[in-house]
Amino acid sequence: MNRLALVLAAILLASCGDANRAPAGLQGDAARGRIALAQYGCRACHMIPGVTGSKVYVGRPLEDMAKRPIIAGTLANNQANLVRWIRDPQAIDPQTAMPVLGVSERDAVDMSAYLLSH
Ligand code: HEC
Repeated sequence: MNRLALVLAAILLASCGDANRAPAGLQGDAARGRIALAQYGCRACHMIPGVTGSKVYVGRPLEDMAKRPIIAGTLANNQANLVRWIRDPQAIDPQTAMPVLGVSERDAVDMSAYLLSH
């Protein structure tokens, strides 16, 4: 097998995971992220696809996140910025009503993997 075939085989193998795995290029564990979103109480202010709760509109529904060019009105939407926002929204926008919830780096990465794939 030549080098190109090896690379292609590796890509194919890497891409045939289970349905809960985040799309290629995303870090973290989306299934774990879904649980973390519920545990940290994000659902108190945001409706989130696949996470049950009542109708709330404090923050916008966190749906179609991957399609948004900008998050929180100021940040370019990419996984790193989403993690930054989730961990410390007040550092980015001191006026925001979203509190600092003490989310760990790993939990924030997992949450962002879920949000960017749902
Ligand atoms: C007390 C209410 C509250 C809680 C709890 C909360 N948020 Fe927010 N969130 C907000 C508000 C208000 C905004 C809008 C901020 C802005 O645009 O300046 C926001 C914005 C966001 C955004 C940007 C959305 C967009 O449309 O651009 C994301 C992503 C987000 N929150 C994720 C989370 C996650 C993940 C959690 C749980 C760790 C969480 N939020 C918990 C109130 C909350």
